Amino acid sequence: MNEFRFRFLTILIGLLISITSCSSGGGDSEPEIELGDPIANQATSITSSSFTASWSRVYRAESYLLDVSEDAGFATFLAGYNAKSLVSLNEDITGLESNMQYYYRVKAVNGAIVSSYSNIVETTTSFIPDSDQTLKKAADTFFVGVAVQSGKLNGQYDETYRKEFSSITAEWEMKMNVMHPSVDTYDFGPADAIVNYGQTNGINVHGHSLIWHNSTPDWVKNFAGTDQEFEDMIEEYITTVVTRYKGKVTSWDVVNEAVEDGSGNLRNSIYRQKMGDDYIAKCYQFVRAADPDVLIFYNDYSMIIDQTKQDAVFAMVDDFIARNIPIDGVGFQMHISHDYPAKADIQKATDRIVERNLKVHFSELDVRANPNKDITSLTAERSLSQKAKVKEVVQVYNSIPNDNKYALTVWGLKDSETWLTDFYGYVDWPLLFDGNYNKKDAYYGFLEGLQ
Ligand code: XIL
Repeated sequence: MNEFRFRFLTILIGLLISITSCSSGGGDSEPEIELGDPIANQATSITSSSFTASWSRVYRAESYLLDVSEDAGFATFLAGYNAKSLVSLNEDITGLESNMQYYYRVKAVNGAIVSSYSNIVETTTSFIPDSDQTLKKAADTFFVGVAVQSGKLNGQYDETYRKEFSSITAEWEMKMNVMHPSVDTYDFGPADAIVNYGQTNGINVHGHSLIWHNSTPDWVKNFAGTDQEFEDMIEEYITTVVTRYKGKVTSWDVVNEAVEDGSGNLRNSIYRQKMGDDYIAKCYQFVRAADPDVLIFYNDYSMIIDQTKQDAVFAMVDDFIARNIPIDGVGFQMHISHDYPAKADIQKATDRIVERNLKVHFSELDVRANPNKDITSLTAERSLSQKAKVKEVVQVYNSIPNDNKYALTVWGLKDSETWLTDFYGYVDWPLLFDGNYNKKDAYYGFLEGLQ
């Protein structure tokens, strides 16, 4: 290195040292504050005209700047919400339009120091339907069903069914223990009343269910004849019922809940014991022989949360398709909870029905608001959580191609009459109407799901 270069470098280093010591030596200037970025929370208390925005406290922040916009890019702002200065950690945003998307973000401030933006939160205000809107009008590409009982087809039941629903399912009166109570008797009284009600009022009737281990009459459980005689008896029963309602009942859950939880094995019901592993296929063929047009469904529960069961059912369906055994659709019962299962899992399982080009029935929807038995009345928070789940279910259903749609059926009309009270032995509010026929948040969630 020559002398000139050496001297130049020494001067440069000297200069640099003096510059850094000046700027950090500080004299009496304040130490610089580093402000973290706030985290914006999901909106809460969402109504048709307002929501609450909130965010996390940032260490040393003295205030926050809130932006609210109708567009995700914040090209424009809601009046008063272009960097609105706030000391609090939340703000009620009011005077909004219903069913509109809004976005918000915040910055933290200390004197002249301002943080970067938080994450952006997206929220949609609730939707207010027209006063003459109903479930069946809103769902114009599929039936909206309800489980009914023959003794409750009058008065306000009748009014609500005719106004809101386009399909009915017998909650228990079209099961074998009711329709074929003993070896040589059939009792079609209640079933006829339900089917006639549908016919008279132009309401679709879904048949439920020909074969179910839980509605097997004792005489069938204790059947004394040979296996062939058992199978002949089942064929005669199926043929008799399906023929009776031919042209009146659009669809049948032919075999209900045949697959065990967890293992994916076939339940060892009396039907399987007597007719062999292929009993389901045989029953489907009996139905098809009696009515070439009726839709044949396989119906079961927990198929979304029990992957083994789901896989077993689709393996069975694929086997039927490969062997030309008639099957037209799959029913997911949809006895679910306000916080479970996730929408993505409902969607994934539903897509498997659509991929096989079969019809989808969400056949027994009820959404538990009290799955952990921690409330004694339906709280506002739980009611909204239930509404959000109903909305998700409807959104998934509505998103499938129209050709794959059939019906979305709710398992009962009023909370006060849900089967779940007996089933779990404590109170819940899983339906769309309260005990006084009032529409609940969940009802509006159904309508919002169709927006
Ligand atoms: C229930 C009914 O709601 C009750 O009234 C009846 O006592 C028992 O059955 N899965 C089904 C439905 O497929 O048939 C069941 O309905 C609920 C579980």
